[in-house]
Amino acid sequence: MMASFEPRHIIVTGGCGFIGSNFVRWVVREQPDVHVTVLDKLTYAGNPQNIADMPEDRVELVVGDICDAALVDRLAAHADTIVHFAAESHNDNSIACPGPFVQTNVQGTFTLLEASRAHGLRFHHISTDEVYGDLALDDPARFTEERPYHPSSPYSSTKAASDMLVQAWVRTYGIFATISNCSNNYGPYQHPEKFIPRQVTGLLRGVRPRLYGDGLNVRDWIHVDDHSSAVWAVLTRGRIGETYLVGANGERSNIDLVRAILRVFGRDEDDFDWVRDRPGHDRRYAIDAGKLRRELGWEPRFTDFEEGLRQTIAWYRDHEPWWASAREDAEARYAEQRR
Ligand code: NAD
Ligand code: TYD
Repeated sequence: MMASFEPRHIIVTGGCGFIGSNFVRWVVREQPDVHVTVLDKLTYAGNPQNIADMPEDRVELVVGDICDAALVDRLAAHADTIVHFAAESHNDNSIACPGPFVQTNVQGTFTLLEASRAHGLRFHHISTDEVYGDLALDDPARFTEERPYHPSSPYSSTKAASDMLVQAWVRTYGIFATISNCSNNYGPYQHPEKFIPRQVTGLLRGVRPRLYGDGLNVRDWIHVDDHSSAVWAVLTRGRIGETYLVGANGERSNIDLVRAILRVFGRDEDDFDWVRDRPGHDRRYAIDAGKLRRELGWEPRFTDFEEGLRQTIAWYRDHEPWWASAREDAEARYAEQRR
């Protein structure tokens, strides 16, 4: 049996964003002995409400920037682990304005790696399958850990750069780090700029969904709680220096997904609009998570995508105050980007 690591005090960067906040909630629910310090800059994508109901003796929020070396060093002195979610995360924004992506995703990861090195912390880096570029629609292949990096967008190239920093810090300085590259997440607390929440909150406002290009692009969807359990498996039982791909066999074209959403709303399946394609738009992502399943025994729990989607839509229906102003701001950004 592989020796396992037992984190006691985790710094969760980006813990007020979509996946980070779901991870904090998952840890509080599933791991009673762990204390969490969230480090989050509260950009447009970070919302302290996402963790406001967490018990005060388990979760503490520090508002600050992962690029602030003095702050990161101070926090690192009191923790044993960093789980690093913080990032600029939206492709469309990265195309319109790449600077903050280089700063947060590359410089920020560097800052955290240096603090992990100085304090001997366990470091887990959250990354994306988009570092591998894309697959053709008719390619039977899926991404594996051996695939060469070939990122397409400013977002994915800065994530690729950050992964490579982690790999180099393991090899050169011997830091205790792992990486996971996950496919597209869905679930509660996802910002309304992203595909599923954008269409769902639009329908709740009476706005028709918008499909980029021909709508045939494929994404490999995984529920955010399954991502959290995978991160925990890698953090506690993964091999140092290794990369693990995370995915749950959820391949689906954008047009099929929009139609599934429209069905839940009881609307006609063709009640959507085509809009101009995203430049450099990756065609297809698909994950082979065999290594994670075989080595660490991980299994997803959300295997019925339609059911996960219904629950997610119900969450947005019930949380209109959570998304109303974020949606307006996101739509204003889209209007500006697509003039
Ligand atoms: P998100 O945009 O919802 O949240 C990002 C969080 O990071 C926000 O709370 C924001 O305030 C914070 N942040 C941004 N810059 C910061 C900085 N300089 N210092 C401190 N905090 C900062 O993103 P997400 O969708 O939850 O993604 C989280 C991580 O997961 C990212 O690293 C992303 O690359 C990765 N990922 C996302 C997906 C997906 O489907 N969304 C899939 C695979 C991997
Ligand atoms: P997105 O949620 O931005 O995630 P990513 O770019 O990281 O995959 O988009 C998911 C897919 O949906 C992607 O193929 C782009 C497409 N898309 C639309 O067709 N319409 C939209 O309004 C948005 C936001 C995305």
